[in-house]
Amino acid sequence: MDYESIKAEVEKVLSARRFKHSAGVADTAAALAEKYGGDADEARLAGILHDITKELSPEEHMKLVRKYNITLDEDEKAAPKLWHAITAPPLLKERFGVSDAIASAVRYHTTGRADMSLLEKIIYLADYMEPSRDFDGVEKLRRLTFENLDDALRLALRMSVEEVKRSGKKVHKNTLEALMYMEGLKKPED
Ligand SMILES: [Fe+2]
Ligand SMILES: [Fe+2]
Repeated sequence: MDYESIKAEVEKVLSARRFKHSAGVADTAAALAEKYGGDADEARLAGILHDITKELSPEEHMKLVRKYNITLDEDEKAAPKLWHAITAPPLLKERFGVSDAIASAVRYHTTGRADMSLLEKIIYLADYMEPSRDFDGVEKLRRLTFENLDDALRLALRMSVEEVKRSGKKVHKNTLEALMYMEGLKKPED
């Protein structure tokens, strides 16, 4: 299936607001892939598809969990916001035959993880700072994302940890591991 047909499929299952967000992630991800030596087509496809199951009901998510034999850990069970990143990858593989690299970028777009691939970093950041996002600090994050991808990832992970803590929720271990990994890469003089 070509990109435009896939995009039209996405538009059918998302609200106008979320479709606009997904298109923003797709364009931003393609630009970042070009800048950082990735595959722009792959990044664009991952971007348009990343929230494909975001508007499903809890019952629909659980149906997919059973269908694809997904195991949710206790933290994931308690965090409905994470479900769409978990149910989307097998669905996208079956429906559109996406690559493992795309499935994995979708899988980790909400939490990040240690030792992320270039595409995983790009989708994580594009999701955070695409043009329709609006929050304190988004301009700084946008600028940094096009200057230094790893610095931007560190900043985004730190902001994410702060935001989750503020909301009184538990920070997912993948996010903490992602941040620790990125901090570990920091040179002492930085
Ligand atoms: Fe998402
Ligand atoms: Fe998103």
